[in-house]
Amino acid sequence: MSTVPDHELIAAARAARALAYAPYSRYRVGAALLTSAGTVVRAANVENVSYSLTLCAERAAVAAAVAAGHRQFDAVAIAANGPEPASPCGACRQVLREFPRALELRVLCAGESGDRVVATTLGELLPASFGPERLGRDTDDVGDQP
Ligand code: THU
Repeated sequence: MSTVPDHELIAAARAARALAYAPYSRYRVGAALLTSAGTVVRAANVENVSYSLTLCAERAAVAAAVAAGHRQFDAVAIAANGPEPASPCGACRQVLREFPRALELRVLCAGESGDRVVATTLGELLPASFGPERLGRDTDDVGDQP
């Protein structure tokens, strides 16, 4: 059972939107990744004038979490502009797929206010996915570090 309630994780994602660097789209996305150790890692989207180099909030959160020594995740919350719950893009779904028990990862999608939340799993969002086991990796293997 998670140590951080869903509403707190969603609040962290909503707060992270303030950190977005989104001068082109003005679409501010915040992500809060809950590690299996109970740590919450936040990030936001980082756009670039060369549009395709833009980094999504979810992938920024994964990079920050891994750089902080985390490789196992229980949940991710995402919040973006507008009332409709934000859904992670395909590239972010694939990046989240990398880690142990990824298909069970809880994904909490929220809108700007956090009033409306869609709770799902990565397995539901990315059916018939390509994962590390396909290349012979043990799905519980977190690698040599830490
Ligand atoms: N974006 C995210 O941060 N996450 C997603 O899952 C979808 C899109 C960002 C990228 C870009 O800065 C802006 O939203 C508009 O596409």
